[in-house]
Amino acid sequence: MNQAAIGIFDSGMGGLTVMRALKSALPEEAFIYLGDTARLPYGTKSAATVRRYALQAARALAQRQVKLIVIACNTASLAARELAETLAPLPVLGVIEPGAAAALAVAPHGPIAVLATEGTVKEGAYARAIGVSATVVQQACPLFVPLAEEGLTDGAIAELVVRRYLDPVLNLRPAPRALLLGCTHYPVLRQVISRIAGPELALVDSAHTTAAAVRELLTARQLRAEPSARPAPRFLVTDAPERFARIGQIFFGEAIDPGQVELIDLQ
Ligand code: DGL
Repeated sequence: MNQAAIGIFDSGMGGLTVMRALKSALPEEAFIYLGDTARLPYGTKSAATVRRYALQAARALAQRQVKLIVIACNTASLAARELAETLAPLPVLGVIEPGAAAALAVAPHGPIAVLATEGTVKEGAYARAIGVSATVVQQACPLFVPLAEEGLTDGAIAELVVRRYLDPVLNLRPAPRALLLGCTHYPVLRQVISRIAGPELALVDSAHTTAAAVRELLTARQLRAEPSARPAPRFLVTDAPERFARIGQIFFGEAIDPGQVELIDLQ
């Protein structure tokens, strides 16, 4: 079981920002990434639809004998409990709790501004995870995902869109102390977001705290892989594997071999 892969899924390429942190924290682990590219975005869909898609994605990974599933999608985390119950004893981890912990580490009393998809904002997932210790304001940024998936991560268009969503947040008083990127697609827009937010506002995401949570869980269950292994990651997509390999490298931070990207059907 220790040599089995860690399964990761997202609606598209966003979860690759989490896998990047995981691979760097746990280089000896094997990874299978599933991007449901045919049905992206999840963020504008109803909770019932996202739940159904998330279950299908997680089942596809479970069938490939993974030892752990990471829901590298804030929006799909609404199905976290159901996935854990359905797939038990296979452990399932989400990104919401680690993201909340990262924000609280830099702004323990808030205010914390959460940028997320419409779905995550509607669920109020971060306000719940952060609890009463800090005030939370939420801003839905529905155009960020298409921008990111298009590889438009900087320049005039990205700047306009980022300003449109950030202006109301930056005008809040008291001013937010942390800006939480509550969608795994958003870290590729980090440069432009941080330029517009200014140096005073700490930008955090869930990638590194999720990697730490995964490491802790694998260690506690004695599921860590052999330290000498360096397996190549595998990628599964539900549409357009060539596009995934080409644009996905912006998210993953390294080249993706198109030969490693397999087209699958989740229905
Ligand atoms: N990357 C996903 C998230 O973290 C969702 C993007 C989408 O499909 O809307 O919420």
